[in-house]
Amino acid sequence: MCGIIGYAGNKNAANVVISGLKRLEYRGYDSAGIAQVSATAGQPLLLVKAAGKVAELEGQLGKQLDNPTDQQASGLAIGHTRWATHGEPTTENAHPHLSQDGNFAIAHNGIIENYLTLRSKLTQKGYEFISETDSEVIAHLIQDVYEGDLQAAVMTTLGQLEGTYGLIVVSSLHPDTLIAARNGSPVVIGIGQGETLIASDISALISHTKRVVYLDDGDVVTVSKDSFDITSLKNVPVSRDATEIDWNVEEIEKGGFDHFMLKEIYEQPTALTNSLRGRLDLKGATAKLSGMQLGPSDLAHIDRITIAACGTSMYAGMVGKYLFEDFASIPTDVVQAAEFRDRNPIMQRDSMMLAISQSGETADTLAAVREGVRKGATILGLCNVVGSTIARETGRGVYLHAGPEISVASTKAFTCQVAVLAMMSVLLGRTHRMSAESANRVISELTRLPELAQAVIDQEDKIAKIAEKYAHIEHAFFIGRGYLFPAVMEGALKLKEISYVHAEGYHAAELKHGPIALLTKDIPVIVAVPESSGKAKTIANMQECRARKAPVLAIATAGDTDIHAHSDDIIEIPRCEEFVAPIPVVIAEQLFAYHMARLRGCEIDQPRNLAKSVTVE
Ligand code: M6R
Repeated sequence: MCGIIGYAGNKNAANVVISGLKRLEYRGYDSAGIAQVSATAGQPLLLVKAAGKVAELEGQLGKQLDNPTDQQASGLAIGHTRWATHGEPTTENAHPHLSQDGNFAIAHNGIIENYLTLRSKLTQKGYEFISETDSEVIAHLIQDVYEGDLQAAVMTTLGQLEGTYGLIVVSSLHPDTLIAARNGSPVVIGIGQGETLIASDISALISHTKRVVYLDDGDVVTVSKDSFDITSLKNVPVSRDATEIDWNVEEIEKGGFDHFMLKEIYEQPTALTNSLRGRLDLKGATAKLSGMQLGPSDLAHIDRITIAACGTSMYAGMVGKYLFEDFASIPTDVVQAAEFRDRNPIMQRDSMMLAISQSGETADTLAAVREGVRKGATILGLCNVVGSTIARETGRGVYLHAGPEISVASTKAFTCQVAVLAMMSVLLGRTHRMSAESANRVISELTRLPELAQAVIDQEDKIAKIAEKYAHIEHAFFIGRGYLFPAVMEGALKLKEISYVHAEGYHAAELKHGPIALLTKDIPVIVAVPESSGKAKTIANMQECRARKAPVLAIATAGDTDIHAHSDDIIEIPRCEEFVAPIPVVIAEQLFAYHMARLRGCEIDQPRNLAKSVTVE
């Protein structure tokens, strides 16, 4: 999704903004731009925009900076990566957008819902529009209401907007000031030494400072290199606490790997160790998840759980459903987060809602959280990004501690989400009907997770070889049952999003109810069939596939000879309990998808049309 960055300081602002935009590339975008303010008030803003990648923008900016009129460039600039919504990814539609007089530039994330009305009013007043975007109205509106006070003009403009925004504004008339505002799209302030940054995402700030302040909806901030003042939309001063980010720059770099996705796959043993650290209590036969802020008597009252999430987080949530039902005996629903609002689910007094989101910024999940708040539910967040909107709005929950996930394709978030859900199921189970003995069996298995993950990663070469055999395919099915059903849904998602192979995940039993009609020798079926209660039935499903000449790639327990006669290829995972099997199975699927995408020449970390965090509904 779109990314914004603004810089006020003593460094070359254009360089800082370009490197910030590069850090935001992972979010997914199709054009980029920068506006730099001259040190001398009244000199024109330097505006450079490009369709395509930030490297293209950087090249064009280099040419512009050779122009002597730009030598007075100040340490103030804003930049934007755009993920097209209103209008194609062209240079004209790229941000920043200028006001008609050229004095104001804006970079905007979000959607202005009433832009057509505003556009028509401005057109009647003689304003001419260059882009097809909803955002351009903001720049013209600021010009229209400006009477010498930039902050006042921005406030008046915000009062006319309906929709969502994470917004940064600069003006050639105010060479020391950036103004930013938030409503529904994240904005974070980075507090440096003699420099202040604004961004939509901490990864754009982290190489400058780890001290940040998150804006809340309705906040407006006026920034100079040495200070920032936050007010409400009514200009009442607001105080927000600063926090320290615990991520390092190295964590958001590739560290010798060809792709972030591969790096993040390899990080899973460490990420799982961090997720589990200090949370397993063998002596008390329970899990310690203090962020949930629910004592035993609160937990004991929970008699229904609704999980709201999207994509990979939703598939982790499906594993969570099985865990909560098996270990805590609590009926659990998993709802696609947008559907949570669309279908108006029933939340009762002792219902708990769990919102799962790696980024903590997914608009559909956030909307579900807000609907849950309106319904009076006890809401918990399960997020990776500390300080993210969902983490803050839920107010209680559990962080994954998986470290930053940069690749659009989610990997380590899934495995850590499953690990945390398993710990939650133990904690809830112990306040319901789970015995200490059963809890300790689960806990012991959870301590093996890093080793299980590593055992699959160690087979990367073998999985890459298998991928060579399948790299030409255009369609694939993934099947599994029980705990492996969500795992194959996730496997299909991984394959389709990065390799563009059309892949469908099904419950193994469902294939014969229709999809089997599609099977041919050119459509492989990837079967999750490790040792589990459903293995015999899944083997029968494998036979059905092979009878239709479909090649079968099994993901099975190491040394399980039952599988050999029914499969063309086998990826082995270590022997483990059924409830943790989604973790090694999904890691095998991640590596398979990664190598399929590599062999097909796909752009793995930033697949076409996708964004890392989907901040529009
Ligand atoms: O940040 P979230 O976990 O809320 O993101 C949810 C989905 O957008 C995300 O998992 C998406 O499906 C990924 N591209 C999957 O790899």
